[in-house]
Amino acid sequence: MIPRRLLDTSILSAWLFGFRSVVCSSCSITDVFPTLYVAHQNRSVLTIHFDPTKAPEESLEIVQAVHAGFQPGWLCTHDSNLYAVSRSKYPDSTSPSGGIFAFAHTQSSGLVGIGDTTSDGEGGVFCDISKDGRVLSVANILAQPGPGTNGSQIQSNPHQAVFDPSGQLMIVPDRGADRVYFYRVSSISDLGLDVALAQNITLPPGSGPRHAIFQVINDRATMMYLVGELDNTIRAFLIGDTASSLTLNITMLQIVSTLGPGAKRTDPNNEHLASEVALSTDGRFLYVSNRNTVSYDADPIAIFALQPSDTKAPLTYLGQNSTLGKIPRHFSLSQDPENKWVAVANEVSNNILLFKRNRKSGFLEDGIVGNLTLGDFDISLERGPMAVIWG
Ligand SMILES: *[C@@H]1O[C@H](CO)[C@@H](O)[C@H](O)[C@H]1NC(C)=O
Ligand SMILES: *[C@@H]1O[C@H](CO)[C@@H](O)[C@H](O)[C@H]1NC(C)=O
Ligand SMILES: *[C@@H]1O[C@H](CO)[C@@H](O)[C@H](O)[C@H]1NC(C)=O
Ligand SMILES: *[C@@H]1O[C@H](CO)[C@@H](O)[C@H](O)[C@H]1NC(C)=O
Ligand SMILES: *[C@@H]1O[C@H](CO)[C@@H](O)[C@H](O)[C@H]1NC(C)=O
Ligand SMILES: *[C@@H]1O[C@H](CO)[C@@H](O)[C@H](O)[C@H]1NC(C)=O
Repeated sequence: MIPRRLLDTSILSAWLFGFRSVVCSSCSITDVFPTLYVAHQNRSVLTIHFDPTKAPEESLEIVQAVHAGFQPGWLCTHDSNLYAVSRSKYPDSTSPSGGIFAFAHTQSSGLVGIGDTTSDGEGGVFCDISKDGRVLSVANILAQPGPGTNGSQIQSNPHQAVFDPSGQLMIVPDRGADRVYFYRVSSISDLGLDVALAQNITLPPGSGPRHAIFQVINDRATMMYLVGELDNTIRAFLIGDTASSLTLNITMLQIVSTLGPGAKRTDPNNEHLASEVALSTDGRFLYVSNRNTVSYDADPIAIFALQPSDTKAPLTYLGQNSTLGKIPRHFSLSQDPENKWVAVANEVSNNILLFKRNRKSGFLEDGIVGNLTLGDFDISLERGPMAVIWG
């Protein structure tokens, strides 16, 4: 059964590298330029400045590259620290474990390494930081064995270990097992948190739950939007406490295709593979990227309008925009209140493209504002960008 094994291999609960001894606590490079950090498998972690006044081919400039292990694949931040998770070979090629690399951001030297440790499992793909800033969670995708179904689901694949907005839950979508695990998180001592499996939900075979994102409705209810990578869906769940507060009340409200109405849920391991999901800060729009693994045409991001008070159909498909690249594994909205920009990491076309977002319509505006090629078109999926976040 999953619980013990999942906890062992996918979650790292540990004090991390002097969270509190940060050199730079209020200064930010974003005062000068918006900054992007990119986890690039072939080029480590890149710091990129964005100058919106320049032409798209000149607006993005790599200002630093820091080593972060073999095939860095995910980034998370806390205060002015940055954490990168690498896929395997930590600390060297004899090990299948991923690594976690911590950096402080300093004004004089940019990112400075402040420590690293094993992700204690194979295939590091995700990290998040608890609300109190003291615990870092990692998902190692090659957890095994596990109940899987077919095709790419021969084993358990925890793809995320994300804290909910209250900080009291940690959610682990398991792409291989078609399950989502809900852990209760509570402070136990000065040394950390207690993380205990509380509940799980089982999705239809071949759903492939990958990433979840949350929207607080009120004190007692939170929406969870869950990407099904393999069936190209978003499922909207309402998560509330039951009267007794002992169990969570998890209700699925709606399922929509990331490929537009009429597309329905696709067969497992369809040629389209949904990847990342994001919400606009105003709570009005949801974005999800699709990866078409058979065509060489550019892949799209689907855009939905959100109406969280509508408990029957909170999501309405609006349309899609091309990423003008191949395999948008990850994308991020800029952190300003209007989410003015959207940065897309196209893994196979090996580039970062920047778009302007229209805050009224939710769509990306015509014409790119940034275009940075990071290497050759790479169909192997092993040398391109895996994640892009705003500093
Ligand atoms: C597994 O694949 C087989 C053949 O492709 C199909 O008949 C079966 O329904 C699949 N099972 C699940 C659980 O998806
Ligand atoms: C998942 O939840 C079901 C009840 O919905 C329960 O029977 C099962 O033991 C749970 N599995 C795990 C691994 O917690
Ligand atoms: C669970 O939430 C649903 C949707 O809000 C609600 O209809 C139902 O009564 C709740 N059940 C319990 C046991 O609280
Ligand atoms: C995004 O889609 C909207 C609506 O179809 C369209 O007006 C806009 O030009 C598209 N933007 C890009 C960058 O393709
Ligand atoms: C980005 O720039 C490259 C040249 O570096 C060019 O080949 C490509 O067409 C550009 N992409 C877009 C979407 O404009
Ligand atoms: C990866 O880096 C190596 C060495 O710098 C380079 O030769 C190769 O072309 C790069 N691969 C891609 C896909 O950019």
